[in-house]
Amino acid sequence: MDGNGRWAKRRHLPRLMGHQAGADALDRTMHWCKEAGIRYLTVYAFSTENWKRSSDEVSGLMKLLSHFIKSKEKELVDNGVAFRVIGRREDLSPRLQKEIAALEEKTKGGDFTLVVALSYGGRDEIVRAAKNFNAEAQRRREHGESVEDEAVFSSCLDTAGIPDPDLIVRTSGELRLSNFLLWQAAYAEFYFSDVLWPDFDKQEFDKALASFSRRERRMGGRKGEGEG
Ligand code: IPE
Ligand code: MG
Repeated sequence: MDGNGRWAKRRHLPRLMGHQAGADALDRTMHWCKEAGIRYLTVYAFSTENWKRSSDEVSGLMKLLSHFIKSKEKELVDNGVAFRVIGRREDLSPRLQKEIAALEEKTKGGDFTLVVALSYGGRDEIVRAAKNFNAEAQRRREHGESVEDEAVFSSCLDTAGIPDPDLIVRTSGELRLSNFLLWQAAYAEFYFSDVLWPDFDKQEFDKALASFSRRERRMGGRKGEGEG
């Protein structure tokens, strides 16, 4: 969800108002995803690098997050949205961790999943997964369960049980992955947009989906290893 700061700067507003506008853009996008029959939306809300920002901006973002969690509960439950966090959640305040766990629990039956990456870094996630991998593979062998390495490794990631993304949209003109879903992005299509995240509108959303469908058709819907 990149470009909040630039969006605010252009309007001579404080950065936090850009983040607030970004939260509104997320609301809208979630709605369009549901309408389009998409079942998983993952947003990069706060990276392991973002802790280096000014303490004012970090605490403002944490407050915004806490507000989102508290104010959205009913809406998420009513709309069948399962809320899930990936990343180093232990870095967050104990209070925020509790709020997150409670919302995950209350919404877990939802048929649409909103995954929020918080204090998230793809490399960090892979290192943490690697630590669990040996033990998990060993356990499976002992129980006579199949140990297909990639699948077991995937199940050690924060995204266990969540399918790999089909499409990754990067806003605000950046052409980098910036440590987002490194493992999971192996076969994802990319859509790069110059639009700043708070300005991400239905037209841009439709363009992203259209570019994905065109490529899917060209590839004959093939995914993964057989890909030429
Ligand atoms: C992304 O917007 C939101 C967060 C990382 C929380 P930025 O804050 O990175 O916006 P720009 O890149 O300064 O425009
Ligand atoms: Mg940025």
